Amino acid sequence: MNLDKVKIIELPRVLDERGNLSFFENEKHVPFTIKRTYWIYDVPGGEARGGHAYHSLQEFIVALSGSFDVILNDGHTEKRFALNRSYVGLYVPRMIWRQMENFSTNSLALIVASDLYKQEEYIPDFEQYKTLQQHDH
Ligand code: TYD
Repeated sequence: MNLDKVKIIELPRVLDERGNLSFFENEKHVPFTIKRTYWIYDVPGGEARGGHAYHSLQEFIVALSGSFDVILNDGHTEKRFALNRSYVGLYVPRMIWRQMENFSTNSLALIVASDLYKQEEYIPDFEQYKTLQQHDH
């Protein structure tokens, strides 16, 4: 199933008394070509973001600051990933239902994506997602 392709990716860390540094590079640490970067911030307590899947878009999510949970569901299995380290990212393949919640105060979610923003990439309804997922190869 698709959740098998989900990956927690630990990024390089350059530890330094002056402050630490981490990075990721196109197609090296992130397993796709990065075409877009966005971030989610100022999330009020108790709010959730996401609640959709993408037809072909892949994403890589890092909690640059603070913490939040990413809940992934492939139509059969659900898994919760607690992101709380700025040097750990979550790779989310295409056709995975994803939601983000439990944002801590001042948390910052960095997301890089394999394509530009296209509304037609979105599958906004879970039942529709499950139907599509059953016929997906
Ligand atoms: P959306 O991805 O729907 O966020 P969520 O699933 O958490 O509600 O994005 C919210 C709005 O932001 C949507 O109207 C489109 C806009 N948007 C862009 O213009 N570019 C982007 O890269 C993203 C991610 C969203």
